[in-house]
Amino acid sequence: MLNDIYYTAIDIGTSKVCTVVARVGPEGQLKIVGHGLAPSQGVKKGQIINVDEAQEAIEASIEEAHSSLGSRVPWAYVSISGNHITCTNTNALLHPSDQNGQVSLEDVRTLTDMSYPEVPFGKEVIHVIPINYVVDGYRSMRNPVGIHAGRLQVESLAVFGDHDNVNETTKVIQNSNVEVRSLVMGGLASGEAVLTESEKELGVVLVDMGAGSTDVAIFKNGTVWYGASIPVGGNQLTRDLSVALGMPYYFAEELKIKWGHAKPEAIDREAEVLLPSFQGRQRRLINRTALCAPMVDRLRETFGLIVVKTQQAGLHRIPAGGIVFTGGTSEMPGFQKLASEALGCPVRVGAPRNIPEISIDHQRPSYSTVMGLLQWGIKQHSERRVRPPMDKRSFSQKPLLERIKQVIMVN
Ligand SMILES: Nc1ncnc2c1ncn2[C@@H]1O[C@H](COP(=O)(O)OP(=O)(O)OP(=O)(O)O)[C@@H](O)[C@H]1O
Ligand SMILES: [Mg+2]
Repeated sequence: MLNDIYYTAIDIGTSKVCTVVARVGPEGQLKIVGHGLAPSQGVKKGQIINVDEAQEAIEASIEEAHSSLGSRVPWAYVSISGNHITCTNTNALLHPSDQNGQVSLEDVRTLTDMSYPEVPFGKEVIHVIPINYVVDGYRSMRNPVGIHAGRLQVESLAVFGDHDNVNETTKVIQNSNVEVRSLVMGGLASGEAVLTESEKELGVVLVDMGAGSTDVAIFKNGTVWYGASIPVGGNQLTRDLSVALGMPYYFAEELKIKWGHAKPEAIDREAEVLLPSFQGRQRRLINRTALCAPMVDRLRETFGLIVVKTQQAGLHRIPAGGIVFTGGTSEMPGFQKLASEALGCPVRVGAPRNIPEISIDHQRPSYSTVMGLLQWGIKQHSERRVRPPMDKRSFSQKPLLERIKQVIMVN
């Protein structure tokens, strides 16, 4: 117990704010010891749009986690999402400091620091992740420590978020008396929770379809390689249904969860659904396939947007690991079948894995981000985080970079 470390993850989603606390023992044994869940407010398409409302939901979620844990948590890993997230590749090169040309851990750390990008105006750095090392201009490797090299090059993935979004996310957590240990791109966190090592090796597109956004993260050679977010999610399906049926949004949400099916014709072509009465209107029957049609259309359209994102990422075809969907929208029955038909590649729906003894609820795809945040945090803990090198700090950027440091530093 004395050497146990507590990790907290907070996923700020469009539909829910979820806090999970895990205890990790000296041998790495992990146990979920606290959790809190609050309906989200003030969050749209994955981004905070009303600080006060979001604050209330976040505090409620943290408070519930505190009471189930029996104490407060000082810091947390926090998700960040939304279509303000962008990424780019950066490079740096050095000659090993050792006289014999042997690459040291310090060389690798220095090189990673050197690959820290110039920060575009209005943006903040969320991650700088080394994705590949090239030795003497031709030999690619993942960990060059100990090898002999005349020169060592690194290719890193830099992930940016809008300054205001990063600031607001950090502020609402800090206002709840919890320090942000690190912001983590939502798709990256979900990937930690649901992907297998062999999928990451082969190359895979991770897609987290939530309520307000669809996060895309591409992995290959064992590491994340691209990240983006599409501002469409399950809320759009509900809105389409509510318009099609001419009924209020909350009725449509209930109908979607109860009767929504991505391949309704595969179940029963004749099945009918009794619509609720509202505003004095008569109850009426509707064919289930017809009820699902607008949602199926929207799903197909979203699959098309996902393909566009992969093309923008530079992929000419979907990698061998296929597409792994997660997030609440992928819980719709028939989802996997529709997606694999529409996309013409291997598709599976993934949920959090490799976390022992989690509740049935936490095993659902809508909890992938929060569970992945924990896994990501635990993995990063022993590694030193990248920090912006001094020569990239212009005078005008200083206050901004101090915040970046707070966001990306661990320990
Ligand atoms: N069985 C189901 N069928 C269809 N949709 C579902 C089902 N279960 C949940 N959803 C939808 O999943 C969405 C919630 O998913 P999730 O919890 O992953 O979102 P979030 O993390 O809050 O939002 P985001 O990541 O977009 O900010 C809602 O739109 C909800 O209607
Ligand atoms: Mg989400």
